[in-house]
Amino acid sequence: MIEALGLTKTFNEFTAVNQLSFTVQPGEIYGLLGPNGSGKSTTMRMLLGLLRPTEGSGRIMGHDLLTEIVAAKRVMGYVPEEATLPERLTGWEYCNYVGDIWRIPRGSEREAEIEELLTLLDIRDASNDLIETYSKGMSRKIGLVAALIHKPKVLILDEVQAGIDPRGAATIKEILNGLRSRGATILMSTHILEIAEQMCDRIGIINDGNMLAEGTMDELRVQAMGQSSLEEIFLSLTGGPDMQLIAKYLENGEPK
Ligand SMILES: Nc1ncnc2c1ncn2[C@@H]1O[C@H](COP(=O)(O)OP(=O)(O)O)[C@@H](O)[C@H]1O
Ligand SMILES: [Mg+2]
Repeated sequence: MIEALGLTKTFNEFTAVNQLSFTVQPGEIYGLLGPNGSGKSTTMRMLLGLLRPTEGSGRIMGHDLLTEIVAAKRVMGYVPEEATLPERLTGWEYCNYVGDIWRIPRGSEREAEIEELLTLLDIRDASNDLIETYSKGMSRKIGLVAALIHKPKVLILDEVQAGIDPRGAATIKEILNGLRSRGATILMSTHILEIAEQMCDRIGIINDGNMLAEGTMDELRVQAMGQSSLEEIFLSLTGGPDMQLIAKYLENGEPK
């Protein structure tokens, strides 16, 4: 279980995350949905113990973020938005290095498991190439393999589908569904409506660091007074495009 308890983060005078509270239950995929800069990554980094909250706290499987962070970290797997992977290792070396960090015994069982994940995500063929040669999507996939190696109870995935091909995205969706049905607690962020709608049991819509609405798709529809699509709900809460500004820009003439 993930509990965010009034999480707040200010950078100098600027409030990036404001009193955010939500809970993700085991067996649930919860989506933080918000525009760019709305505070999704900052919220995740606080829950991961990578960034100290200015106010508020949280618990991961009951472990307090402020006082029991090592125990909390042990049960979490994280795929960051911008992974900084060691470029001079191969994908295979990196996955084994992560396995060592988690003290998973070396040997055929661990290797088979890594190989299974690499194959599932279509990057087994590239696993002996240096990470510096990988595309963004390939790096993301290696990041996901690395996050799953120690079989975390709690998974935190920051824009995990960004840069991933359709087959990879479908594979990730199936893997996450399977882990959910085995009781994993999954928090993911996205700014892509279809992904939130297709994958998440519950969605929290955030903007400027504030939780604007939260619930299942059906609950969000009721809160947004019958608006049917998530796009309508999202735009009515976070603001649609500025049509006047767009019209003004387009008035400036035809493409030359
Ligand atoms: N280390 C930082 N210092 C100053 N501002 C930051 C820092 N990290 C994030 N921010 C700001 O906080 C806001 C939320 O950022 P972020 O959580 O990355 O948004 P999202 O992941 O939803 O796109 C943005 O305005 C961003 O510029
Ligand atoms: Mg982000």
